[in-house]
Amino acid sequence: MGAMTDPSPWWSRAVFYQVYPRSFRDSNGDGVGDLDGVTAGLDYLADLGVDALWLNPVTVSPMADHGYDVSDPRDIDPLFGGIEALDRLVAAAHERGIRITMDLVPNHTSSAHPWFAAALAAGPGSAQRARYLFRDGTGPGGVNPPNNWISIFGGPAWTRVVERDGAPGQWYLHLFDPEQPDLNWDNPEVFEDLEKTLRFWLDRGVDGFRIDVAHGMAKPPDLPDMQLAENKLLADMDSDPRFNHEGVHDIHRNIRAVLNDYPDAVAVGEVWVYDNAAFAAYLRPDELHLGFNFRLVRAEFGADEIRDAIENSLAAVALQDATPTWTLSNHDVEREVTRYGGGPLGLARARAMALVMLALPGVVFVYNGEELGLPNVDLPDEVLQDPVWERSDRTERGRDGCRVPLPWSGDAPPFGFSTTADTWLPMPADWASSTVERQLADPESTLHFFRRALRLRRDRSGVVGAELTGLSSEDGVLTVQTEGGLRCVLNAGAHPVDLPAGEVLLTSAPLQEHSPSLRSPRPGRLPPNAAAWVL
Ligand code: GLC
Repeated sequence: MGAMTDPSPWWSRAVFYQVYPRSFRDSNGDGVGDLDGVTAGLDYLADLGVDALWLNPVTVSPMADHGYDVSDPRDIDPLFGGIEALDRLVAAAHERGIRITMDLVPNHTSSAHPWFAAALAAGPGSAQRARYLFRDGTGPGGVNPPNNWISIFGGPAWTRVVERDGAPGQWYLHLFDPEQPDLNWDNPEVFEDLEKTLRFWLDRGVDGFRIDVAHGMAKPPDLPDMQLAENKLLADMDSDPRFNHEGVHDIHRNIRAVLNDYPDAVAVGEVWVYDNAAFAAYLRPDELHLGFNFRLVRAEFGADEIRDAIENSLAAVALQDATPTWTLSNHDVEREVTRYGGGPLGLARARAMALVMLALPGVVFVYNGEELGLPNVDLPDEVLQDPVWERSDRTERGRDGCRVPLPWSGDAPPFGFSTTADTWLPMPADWASSTVERQLADPESTLHFFRRALRLRRDRSGVVGAELTGLSSEDGVLTVQTEGGLRCVLNAGAHPVDLPAGEVLLTSAPLQEHSPSLRSPRPGRLPPNAAAWVL
């Protein structure tokens, strides 16, 4: 369709590996991962078989939301090694044929951004305040916030400032933490500055962006009240006035116009929009290249639920002839091993779901540690850092449990992640059995399983990850069939099932033997909570 769609841009069936830089690898012994740590891990990632990295934010930030509060979007925070460390990473990754994409945070800045300091100093009605969403309060003396919006992290989405004369003054909007004031996207200066940021990183050799809250930015002019039941990152927000305002599409068109000057660059948006047509609108040929699709993240482990998620994801992108994307986890959600029941059951299901995901056409995102089968970590209260914890009055534990540093080697924390045991989040002692070192030594490990699956996806691209020709679920069994004749069978039921005849390329768990009396020419039986690729 669309004249702008190159038949095969590099990202069209790429496997992206999401690096949470604080947690991947620490090169300088301060207990926090950094970019030279990522560079040191590139051979590991090349062996895993990934095509590109998505780095969570590494730009300058006071780290109130671990980098999603940006105070200088055109420099790298010293915590992550400064801008030279990014240059080293880009060069070393490109040598290995791995692309680098960065997180871009256009919805808000940090309250430490010079613009926000200037806005506070300049006072009501000033051009400086017009870069953000300052409003007078309601009620006597403006004591109440301008509307009833709630922050995604809990509590009101408005904070009242103290004016220069010391009196309580205007309120400013922050859909997230108070240290993340929302920008006013009706102000042309805001896009002018974003364009500088886009060109700054693209000119430095970065291959694209993951756009944070890509369904945010634009706000309805009258800022109408919201339905308070809708305040959840994972909730169905389609009627929520805080997000998905139609003005957002002009912003994406403007971003795309810049990216088109860099023909290989890609933008993938974080779009928490569920209606298929509304989601697809972000993927029009002059908007985002890709949109994150969270349906697999939200689906229960059940054949019908997963079929439904896949069907809807494909139906949505088909509306714009766009490329599907798939992900099972990221830095905002509970890790899938835990979501699917935890322990050996959760791990078995996570491996099975990895085979389903990697059989599908389009782009796949793997979150660091997924390839090691890591579970979420139950962290003690006193180490929690996610702003969600305090802002929910300690009722929501937040996202730290999926952000614990990766175990590389050795028998005790910090497992080669760092040289200090005082890592920014503590690592569980029982991860000794999950280290990269231990898994490399075990041919049955989850790491080897991912390496095999990614290699097959790359080497057998005509069948693994090819267009779908069939998708069905029956009696707890999901079957995905691709153009080249691959059948991916997922057994989400309670009993072993027969596999179709053919060559078994890979299974997520050992098959069960047929009883010898049957002398079946078929492969063995697929146990529950397992998947297989049969050609
Ligand atoms: C996105 C990010 C999340 C962050 C929020 C605010 O949802 O994925 O981690 O806290 O935006 O920037």
